[in-house]
Amino acid sequence: KKKLVIGLFGFGVVGEGLYRVLQQTPTLDATIKSVCIKHPDKPRNAPHSLFTTDAEALLNDPEINVIVELIDDADAAIRIARSALSSRKALVSASKKMIARHLPELLELQRRYETPFLYEAACCASIPVIRNLEEYYDNDLLRSVQGIVNGSTNYILTRIAEDNLSFGAALQLAQEKGFAESDPSLDIEGKDAVFKLAILLGHAYGIVHEPERITHAGITGIKEGDAVFAREKGFKIKLIAQASKLKNGKVAAFVLPRFVHHDSNLYLVSNEYNGIEIGSGLADKQFFCGKGAGSFPTASAVLSDLSALRYDYRYEYKKLLANESDRLSNDFYLHV
Ligand code: HSE
Repeated sequence: KKKLVIGLFGFGVVGEGLYRVLQQTPTLDATIKSVCIKHPDKPRNAPHSLFTTDAEALLNDPEINVIVELIDDADAAIRIARSALSSRKALVSASKKMIARHLPELLELQRRYETPFLYEAACCASIPVIRNLEEYYDNDLLRSVQGIVNGSTNYILTRIAEDNLSFGAALQLAQEKGFAESDPSLDIEGKDAVFKLAILLGHAYGIVHEPERITHAGITGIKEGDAVFAREKGFKIKLIAQASKLKNGKVAAFVLPRFVHHDSNLYLVSNEYNGIEIGSGLADKQFFCGKGAGSFPTASAVLSDLSALRYDYRYEYKKLLANESDRLSNDFYLHV
């Protein structure tokens, strides 16, 4: 099996988590050779010699055979991705925004350079949802993929419902715990969830679609009255990402806050947990639940991608067909 020599971009919540986790995982023959960071003067819990600000040197280091990209600047992330794949270094990324926006180009780069690119951490952190969708052979029968895909908003909604916290106080807690994006409007306005849904649409239905054009709303418009109504009637308010196959063959997709009834699996998904329900023809309903944000849960997904690289696992995009964005329907309110 290949020894992995990693060049890491980013040493934030997830990057540092990965560094710690790898130290405790000697069975995986992987070492971080160098970490590229933006702010060299920031104090870090790792030897100074590990860090560099020279991205080019790291990307051109012939000893490094895997680039792990864990930064939150999508423009810088796509440049790193292009450079890594075109120099035939395997790439592992957690940048949902970058992946959702550039999926067609990234697919082309993977094909052209025959280089693996894995991104399980970009979607629902610790839940191996992409891997699962890749393995569904009865994909023609895949009825729906729906669930809670953003940990911060679920954490905020939980704190408001259970502890009566204000929206602002709950958001601050989500930020302190490292769940929120550095720009938290991405979380609370539903953008982060729509990036993840766009990735799921590719793996579930072969649909590649501009994420921003998928119908979405976040949790900022939820009113006090909505919360009171939910409590009185036995519902919980959850931010739900959903893709469902319609009778006409199209797929309806959206991210919206919804009242979730107590008989739903998603009702019990609280705090920073995510939950995904997959409905398919043969397997019927399956439900996956796990931590969807935070240092170690996200690092665990990066770790499984690294381990998968050692046995040459690749996404096969079995369902990906040309120009499938035509199949996306925004008529969700008529059908769902
Ligand atoms: N801000 C994201 C979330 C992090 O809260 O889900 C994990 O993708």
